[in-house]
Amino acid sequence: MNQFFKRRGVKHFPGVPFFGNMYATAFLKKHFLDEIQVIHDAFPNEKYVGFMDFTMPVLLIRDPELIKSITVKDFDHFTDHHNFLTKTSDPMSDHSVLFLKGDRWRQMRTTLSPAFTGSKMKLMCPLIMENANHIIQYLHAHESETIQVDDLMCRYANDVIVSTGFGLEINSLRDRDNEFIKIGNDLFDFDLKQRTLFILSSFFPNFNKKLGVRFFPKETNHFFRNLVASTMDYRTRENVERPDMIQLLMEARGEWSLDELTGQVFAFFVAGFDTTANALIMIIHELALNPQYQERLYQECRQLKEDKGLTFDTLNQLKYLECVINETLRKWSPAVLMDRICVKTYELPPPREGGKPYTLKPGDVVYNMVNCIHMDPNHYPDPHKFDPERFSEENRHNIKPCTFSPFGVGPRGCIGMRFAMMELKVLMFQIILNFTIVKTEKTMDPIKLKPHNFNIRALNETWVKFQKRK
Ligand code: HEM
Repeated sequence: MNQFFKRRGVKHFPGVPFFGNMYATAFLKKHFLDEIQVIHDAFPNEKYVGFMDFTMPVLLIRDPELIKSITVKDFDHFTDHHNFLTKTSDPMSDHSVLFLKGDRWRQMRTTLSPAFTGSKMKLMCPLIMENANHIIQYLHAHESETIQVDDLMCRYANDVIVSTGFGLEINSLRDRDNEFIKIGNDLFDFDLKQRTLFILSSFFPNFNKKLGVRFFPKETNHFFRNLVASTMDYRTRENVERPDMIQLLMEARGEWSLDELTGQVFAFFVAGFDTTANALIMIIHELALNPQYQERLYQECRQLKEDKGLTFDTLNQLKYLECVINETLRKWSPAVLMDRICVKTYELPPPREGGKPYTLKPGDVVYNMVNCIHMDPNHYPDPHKFDPERFSEENRHNIKPCTFSPFGVGPRGCIGMRFAMMELKVLMFQIILNFTIVKTEKTMDPIKLKPHNFNIRALNETWVKFQKRK
C-alpha cells in the first residue's frame, strides 16, 4: 500500500494496512480534519500529496492554482463527486444531485437551480424570519441559562429546510420529537452500526452492494418517499402552489421517477441541514470567545433596523456580519474538502520542481483542500486568530482565488450558497439585536473538534449565555 505513491513520486505519510491514513479517524482518536491537516502541513512545498482513504489512494490537492484547474478550467475532466455511500446501496443518495454523475447531474442541477433565484428566495425570506423568531422567543424565555447551542441551531436549520423545502409549518422547539428532527440527527450522528458499516464498506465495496447493505435505515427512505408523494398528490388535488422545492420537483415530475425526486429532497437535507447548523454554532462560539466584535455588529444591525428594517433586499447591507460569517467559515468550514472523481484522463503537473507529472485515470479520486488551505499561514497570517477584518472591503483583495472556498468552487459548487447566507444572516441579525453572547465556564476555549462525526463541532459542544441587551 505504501508503495503506491512512492512508485509514482508523490510524497505521503505511511499508512496502516487496510486503514491507510484513516486509522485514527475510524477509531475516534482524531477528527478527520486533524488527520489531513498533519499531512497537509508536513509537505509545504508540494502541490499535492498522497493519502490512503482506507484502501483507496487519493491525491490531496494543496495548490490553489491546481484546485482552480480541477474545479473550473478543466471541469469536464472532473464533473462528479465521489459518493462514499455508493459502496452500500442507498437509492436516495444514488439519485441525489449531490452524487448524480455526468449528464444526469447536469439535467438535475438545471432543474433545481430556479429554486435559488433572487425572486424565489425573496418569497422564502419571511418563512426564515418566522423560524428565527421562534429561536429568539426561546432565548428570551431561557435568558438566565447556559444554552446548548448545537441542539438549538439544529432545530432552526431543520425548521428552515422543512418550511422552505416542503411548505410545512413546523416548530421543533415546541414539537421537540418531530420526525424531521429525529431523521436529521440520525443522518449525521454516525452510530456504532453506521461507523462499522462505513469501515466494512471501505474494505468490501462490491460485497456490500451485492448484499444490498444500506447506510441509512429503510424507514428514512420511506419517510422521504412518502412525504414527496403525498405532498405532490395533495397539491395536485387541491390545486395548491407554493414557492418551494416540492413545487419545482412537481413541475419536473414527468422527466424523473419518484425515487429520483425523493433523492433531491434527501440532497437538500444532507447538504443544507447540518452545514448551516454547524456554521451558526461556530459563529456563536467564536463571538463568545471574541466579544470585542459584538459591539460593531450590534451597531450595524441596529442601524439597519432603524433605517429600513431587515428584508431580503436589505440583507446585503449587513457587511460586517458578512465578514464575521466568512471568518467563521474560514476557520471552521463545514465541508472540509471538495472531492472530485476524474472522468477523463488528466495529466497533473509535477508535485514539485524536478518531480514528474502524474496521470489521473477515470475513476481516480482527488480531494481539493478547503480547511487546510484556510488555515495555511501563507494564505492567512496568524491563521488561528479570529479576525473578521480579513474579509473587509479594504482587505478582501488579499484573498487569492481558491484560498477561500467554504461553498466549493466551479459548476459543482454549492447550489444553496445564497440561501445559506440568507439563513445565517437572518438569525444572527436577530440574535445580535436582542442579546450579548457571553462565554461561561462551559464554553470550550480553545475549540477542539469532536472526532465522532465528519462534521465540525466542538468536542464538548457549544455552550454560551444569551444576555438580554438593555
Ligand atoms: C453554511 C451552509 C453551507 C455550506 C458551508 C455548504 C457547502 C457546500 C459545499 C462545500 C458543497 C460542495 C461544493 C464542491 O464540491 O465544490 C456543497 C454542495 C451542495 N450544497 Fe451546500 N452548503 C451549505 C448550505 C446549503 C444549503 C442550505 C443547501 C440547500 C438548501 C445546499 C445544497 C447543496 C447541494 C444540493 C449541493 C450539491 C451540488 C452539486 O453537486 O451540484 N447547501 N455545499
